[in-house]
Amino acid sequence: MDSAGTLSVLNSPSEMKKVSDACRKAGRKLGFVPTMGALHQGHISLVEESVRRADVTVASVFVNPTQFGPGEDFDRYERDYKGDVEKLVRCGVNYLFYPDISDIYPDGFQTTVSVGTLGDCLCGPFRPGHFDGVATVVLKLFNIVRPDFAVFGRKDYQQLRIIQKMVRDLDMDIEIVEMPIVREPDGLAMSSRNAYLGEEQRIRATAVNKALHEVRGKFKSGCDDCKILLAEANRVLRMAQINDINYIEIRDPETLELRHRAMEGDLVALAVRVGETRLIDNIVL
Ligand code: PAJ
Repeated sequence: MDSAGTLSVLNSPSEMKKVSDACRKAGRKLGFVPTMGALHQGHISLVEESVRRADVTVASVFVNPTQFGPGEDFDRYERDYKGDVEKLVRCGVNYLFYPDISDIYPDGFQTTVSVGTLGDCLCGPFRPGHFDGVATVVLKLFNIVRPDFAVFGRKDYQQLRIIQKMVRDLDMDIEIVEMPIVREPDGLAMSSRNAYLGEEQRIRATAVNKALHEVRGKFKSGCDDCKILLAEANRVLRMAQINDINYIEIRDPETLELRHRAMEGDLVALAVRVGETRLIDNIVL
């Protein structure tokens, strides 16, 4: 066990289990924030919420290989162990779970979670296997940490709904706490992948959130025709030369079913590529 201030870093699942067992036995409420590191204010908002609600907060940093497809950015995904530790210490996190790939996927590992139809839409078709990889690692992390609650951001809206469904479907006794998207001052949703953007791409990327606001504005002024609403968003994106649009859609915020007529509270979600960088964002109407 490697200690940094009041933060203890645990590498092995068995050490982590020991610590969380002891917390549970002592009747202490355990909060958990799973991440892939390169922590920014979006992650920090989740950690702070956990520290507020829990007696003990565990954060994990694990860049999970099974949720990256071939040709995706697993190798170049930003890693910043030192920076992450400093930020977690400042937030008052008690434990960082920081396993190796071989701790999570030992030789002979076989069993995986299959997430069903919630994973078939939005990002699903563009990232085959991604959500099964996410659900599998989150289930493992939940079993290792066994928290009372875990905190997720709405930035990854589909992921959040998939985790909530997994928890219900598999009778897991963990409350899922959801937190709003934290944005840069110009509206760009914070993301570890924003670091890939060049200067000119970073400016064009502001159109991503503008396009969503355009949809909301038009909806508030009385238009509920999804075709018209989305045409408007497409126009904003193309004006910023964002032409590689994976999807931009309006869906039921719970079931993720596609809408033709938009309703208050619906999800507007998109994924685009700015250069090589894939960005996702969403708002609710
Ligand atoms: P990661 O992308 O590191 O995100 C960890 C958590 O931070 C997720 O719940 C995500 O929704 C949240 N988050 C990221 N950016 C945010 C922002 N701008 N505002 C609010 N919350 C934000 O999501 C993953 O890691 C992985 O898939 C993981 C769940 C850890 C499984 O490997």
